[in-house]
This record gives sequence, C-alpha cells and structure tokens, in this order.
Amino acid sequence: MASRLMALWDWFDARMPSVAEEFRKHASEYYAPKNFNFWYFFGALSILVLVIQFVSGIFLTMNYKPDANLAFGSVEYIMRDVPGGWLIRYVHSTGASAFFAVVYLHMFRALLYGSYKQPRELVWIFGVLLYLTLMAEAFFGYLLPWGQMSYWGAQVIVNLFASVPFIGPDLSLWIRGDYVVSDATLNRFFALHVIAIPLVLLGLVAAHILALHDVGSNNPDGVEIKKKKGPDGHPLDGIPFHPYYTVKDIAGAVAFMMIFCVVMFFVPEMGGYFLEYNNFIPADPLKTPAHIAPVWYFTPYYSILRAVPPLFTSQFPGVMVMGIATLILFFLPWLDRSPVKSIRYRGVLYKSALAIFVVTFLVLGYLGTEPVTVWGQFGPWMGNADVATVAARVFTLLYFAFFILMPWYTAIDKSKPEPERVTM
Ligand code: HEM
Repeated sequence: MASRLMALWDWFDARMPSVAEEFRKHASEYYAPKNFNFWYFFGALSILVLVIQFVSGIFLTMNYKPDANLAFGSVEYIMRDVPGGWLIRYVHSTGASAFFAVVYLHMFRALLYGSYKQPRELVWIFGVLLYLTLMAEAFFGYLLPWGQMSYWGAQVIVNLFASVPFIGPDLSLWIRGDYVVSDATLNRFFALHVIAIPLVLLGLVAAHILALHDVGSNNPDGVEIKKKKGPDGHPLDGIPFHPYYTVKDIAGAVAFMMIFCVVMFFVPEMGGYFLEYNNFIPADPLKTPAHIAPVWYFTPYYSILRAVPPLFTSQFPGVMVMGIATLILFFLPWLDRSPVKSIRYRGVLYKSALAIFVVTFLVLGYLGTEPVTVWGQFGPWMGNADVATVAARVFTLLYFAFFILMPWYTAIDKSKPEPERVTM
C-alpha cells in the first residue's frame, strides 16, 4: 500500500514538480525551530477549526433557508428533523466560539514571544486582518438563525454605523438594504457569510503562512535560527516539519477535539455564552429584548464602546474608540522597542504590562456580558455613577495604556541578553 502511494506521488512529481516542490517547502520539509512548546499548537488548531467550520457550514446550508419567514423554522427543522442535524449545528456553533478561543491564545503567544517583531511584521498584519475578517464572519453568521438576539444584535451594530458623521445614515441603509433589519439584510448577510468572507479568510490564511515561511518561525527563545546553519544549509536549531511537528500537532488536535466534544455534547450553549437564550425566541421587530449583549468573543470591545460617553446624543465617540481599539493592533510591531523578542529575556516592565493587559481584556470581556447595573451604583457623593461603567472606563484606559506607553516601557525595560542558540 505504502509503495503504491509512493509510486503515485512520484507520478505526480514527474508531471507537476512545482506542486511537489511547494509541498516540500511549505509542509513536509519546512524547517521549524526545535523548541516549540504548548503555545505553538494554536496555529495548526486554527486551521483545524477553519476546516471544521467550512465542512459543518456546507452541510448546514443544505437545509437552511435564508428567508425572514423561514430562517428560524429551518434551524429548528435542522435541530429536530434532519438526521444528525443537531450535531452539525452544534459543531458549527461550538466551532465559532472555539475559533475565537484558539485565535486569542494564538495571538497571546505572539505577545509572549514577540512574534510580531521584525522580520515577521507582515505575518502579524495578515494575522490582524484575519482576526477582523473572522469578526465580520461571526457577525454575519449570527443573524442567520433569525432569533431575537440575531435580530436586535444586528440592529444595534448596524445602527452604530449610522452615527458616523455625514455619511452615517446612508451607510447604515446601504449595509441593511432597508430602513430596518429585514429579509433583504438576511439575504446579503447570508451571501457574505457563506461565500465572500470565507474566500477572504482562505486568501488571508494563505498569505499569513506564506509570509511566515519566507522569514521562518519564531520560537519561545526569540532566537533567529536561520543565523546559524549547518553544512547541509539547514538551520542547526531547526527540524523538518514532518514527521516531528505533524506528530506533535496531531497529538494537540486529538486533545483539542476531546475538549471540543465535551463542550459540544454536554454544554453546547455554555450557560448562554455560546448560544444566547434569547436566540431561541424567533425575531420580533416589535419587541426589544431587555438586555442585548453580543457573544463572549466580542464583549471586550462592546465594553469599550459602552465605556465612552455619547457626545450629545451621538454614539460616534464610542464607535471611534472601539474601532481604534482593534486597529491599534496593526501598529504593535512598531510600538515595541525592546531589543529582545521573548518574554524569557524581557524585564519586569513588559512582563507586568502584559499581565495587566491580560487581566484588563478579561475584565472588559466580563463587563461586556453584563447589564451596566450589575454592580449597582456609587452613592450620591460620586454623582450616583454606575460602578460597572466606571470600571469599564478604567479598564478601557488600561487597554490603551498597554499600546500607547509601549514605546516608553519597552525602551527602558532591563532585558537579559538573548542566547546564541535555542535552549531546550
Ligand atoms: C484563521 C486564523 C488563523 C490561522 C488559521 C493561523 C494560522 C497560523 C499558523 C498555521 C501558524 C504557524 C504555526 C504557529 O506558529 O502556531 C501561524 C503563525 C503565526 N500567526 Fe497565525 N493564524 C491565524 C490568525 C492569527 C492572528 C489573528 C494573529 C495575530 C493577530 C496571528 C499571528 C501569527 C503570528 C505572529 C505567527 C508567527 C508565530 C511565530 O513564529 O512565533 N495569526 N498562524
């Protein structure tokens, strides 16, 4: 069997050598640093979740109806009557949350080991574009079940665009295709969710990986392995992707799938965090839910939006600050002035700043899931200010401080010298 497969491979190699060459360059014989650790699972896992979403999405589309009168019912039909339909739907809804969990951990790894720093700026930029595109994909997908949260969530977000000066009202009308979220909106969000955005995602993943493979992977020591090559021209601290990292990534994928299955089979709604309870009620344009909150992966930015006070009646300042909070990620490679990449050799300032940033992101995420009144109010001595709103303001400032003060604290931080070769 194995020799037959090898013969087939040789047959292709003789006829399409460029494909085989690219496969060797980017997969089987890609030389990666030999000291990858736990944090290096999440790139491969992001690809795995992307595939899971594509496959489950194709099967969902076979029974879903993108029509305002039929959409909610078609999802119920998938859940109750289509054989295995409930499984496909839960794979896709759990997959959406898993995608963000994996991507957040993947981004955190870049912050730990300075993977965005020179020469990997483009890898990072394609990564941030992927993150933003993923947000768009999740947003468009969330309207499709046509539940109360789908409807009102889309209404709130599209209305934010209406606050843009001058062009706002026309812009929101153009996005919706109607004066309110309606069948026209559902149809265009469906087209964007199943075709346009997935194509963009695929292109960006290709660009992300090509950019990475041209400069080579970073590693937990932040040492550039290409600087020290052996007589065979390969980095002394590098090992071929196959079989070393194929085996490691398969082990990671198995562990990940175990966690994924536990969530999917036992807690697919995750207490309302993965599938919101209000979304099991059909969309009703005449009845606004008491508490509208986005899904957990958007909540840090939702908190930032709510933290900024409106200017007269305009939400635009909040929208702008929220936009800047995501776009500032692009500038990270130029904000970081540290001479070393990895947290292992950085000083106490960066270590503390990163720890505060992680706590900040989590607290903002939590605050975004709760109504503003969650913690009650300060007394009249503080103008009866809302505790949660004040907290969101403080943490929004901390969020921005991480980036804005970065050129300063990374420049004065006392880093240790990077080693010549990777440590194990
Ligand atoms: C669909 C989403 C994504 C996919 C499929 C993906 C895939 C990958 C893969 C396969 C790798 C190489 C393996 C590894 O280093 O773990 C990688 C590396 C990397 N990714 Fe992503 N990625 C995605 C999103 C992102 C995002 C959102 C960012 C940051 C904003 C990012 C930043 C990076 C960086 C900086 C590296 C180089 C890491 C290093 O060499 O240390 N990626 N990505």
